[in-house]
Amino acid sequence: MIKILVTGGAGFVGSSLCIKLKQKYPDYSILAFDNLRRRGSELNLIDLKRNGIEFIHGDIRNDEDLISAGAFDLLIEASAEPSVMAGLNSSPAYIINNNLYGSINCLNACLNYKAKIIFFLPAESILSIKLKMLFSKKKKHAFLLQRTKKKKEFRNLVFPKI
Ligand SMILES: NC(=O)c1ccc[n+]([C@@H]2O[C@H](COP(=O)([O-])OP(=O)(O)OC[C@H]3O[C@@H](n4cnc5c(N)ncnc54)[C@H](O)[C@@H]3O)[C@@H](O)[C@H]2O)c1
Repeated sequence: MIKILVTGGAGFVGSSLCIKLKQKYPDYSILAFDNLRRRGSELNLIDLKRNGIEFIHGDIRNDEDLISAGAFDLLIEASAEPSVMAGLNSSPAYIINNNLYGSINCLNACLNYKAKIIFFLPAESILSIKLKMLFSKKKKHAFLLQRTKKKKEFRNLVFPKI
């Protein structure tokens, strides 16, 4: 049976994807993986359950959590700290750990299980360029966020085999 792991599976994009995939491919095993950090994401658990989607409470920053999901065929990375304002008045460590190192763990899990990966590309890469123009003082932050979100380029560079 094809198994698809959707990280950020309780989020806006992730939960919609899980439900659509299950409706289109009822024989597939669809797993929603989420740390529920995003306030309100827990509300999507009801719909996930109703649609026969298994939920795994885990964090992509922790590779042991990813391992607990077991082998899968495809990982759809829709987990992220999507806010361009995150870390603006505090350390950027959280967005770097979450959006960059977390994605590395996802890539490693895919290598481990010989699985494919799809990144849900964030719109913030474009938005951050606009932010740069709007708030010149915040240039550095916008640039940092933009870089941590450029996962596709990173994947092609570091993991060309996946
Ligand atoms: N919503 C949109 O219209 C839209 C458009 C374009 C791109 N995107 C991109 O799609 C992605 C998802 O966006 P969204 O709107 O669904 O955001 P969201 O905040 O609704 O969902 C993200 C989910 O990821 C989870 N999460 C965060 N960190 C995690 C971690 N370390 N481990 C496991 N789960 C974690 C959160 O709890 C949340 O449920 C982002 O990269 C976003 O930039 C969204």
